[in-house]
Amino acid sequence: MSTHVPMKRTMAPDITARKGGDPIVSLTSYHAHTAAIADKHCDFLLVGDSLGMVMHGYETTVPVPLDLMIMHGKAVVRGSKRALVVIDMPFGTYEESPSVAFRNAARVMKETDCGAVKLEGGRRMAETIRFLVDRGIPVMAHIGMTPQSVNVFGGFKTQGRTVDTWTAIEEDARVVTEAGAFAIVLEAMSAPLAERITKAVAVPTIGIGASPGCDGQILVMEDMLGLSPRVPKFVKEFGAIGQAIDRAIASYASEVRARTFPSTEHTYSLKSADVASDPGAGSPAGTGAGTGRVTKKPKNQGT
Ligand code: KIV
Repeated sequence: MSTHVPMKRTMAPDITARKGGDPIVSLTSYHAHTAAIADKHCDFLLVGDSLGMVMHGYETTVPVPLDLMIMHGKAVVRGSKRALVVIDMPFGTYEESPSVAFRNAARVMKETDCGAVKLEGGRRMAETIRFLVDRGIPVMAHIGMTPQSVNVFGGFKTQGRTVDTWTAIEEDARVVTEAGAFAIVLEAMSAPLAERITKAVAVPTIGIGASPGCDGQILVMEDMLGLSPRVPKFVKEFGAIGQAIDRAIASYASEVRARTFPSTEHTYSLKSADVASDPGAGSPAGTGAGTGRVTKKPKNQGT
């Protein structure tokens, strides 16, 4: 009998069950390497369509194609073991009709093996959310500031700053919950509104620029690491990775120019038995080339 107990991956209902409990921790993730690190700390990882802006240099998320989401989604699923992986449905792949949404969302689920999809919109997406959930696709909703509608909003504008705008957003939250969303992202909205919504709905709210009163929080990983050139007001930079990368690359460039890198420590040599017959034994000193010295094997490299 095998004693191997596979580690269970978090599933959408596990997130729903966290309503009102310990805060739900999540980050965006776009590639395997950082997914493996974030997986140790996060309840879910979102392959957000923000990857179009963060990784691919688009001005907005509107141009992001479905194939790109699938490619990054596969990497994040491969890199993680524990966290639920949620993949954003990009603009134009779900709004037209519930059946178009199902076709594209099913492709995302089948090709990436992720655990859920996220789509933007409140009341207008309720029928589609119900259609997907009834057919086996867990859906995270996303209301408030919905970046795919940037061209309608006229910018990335905070929502619910005046009380007269609250009813429509509260209605969005209520309707997507009734339609079967397992959680709701509340993006860039005034704190009192996010708190009211969190109290009113039965599923967890995940805040990004919303309120500490939400059931969980999400940030774009590159923003909180200090890697993004500009960040919104609601981002706290928990690291200074951009500066660390800048310093590391500057050191590399200066060592390459000074010919101090690679040193013998990072250079392959002949095996000891062949040193005597090394035809390059007389090569210029200081280059490390052809000296025939046996050097340490670099990490993860061949012999
Ligand atoms: O695309 C994204 O990164 C998102 C988060 C901002 C929630 O949707």
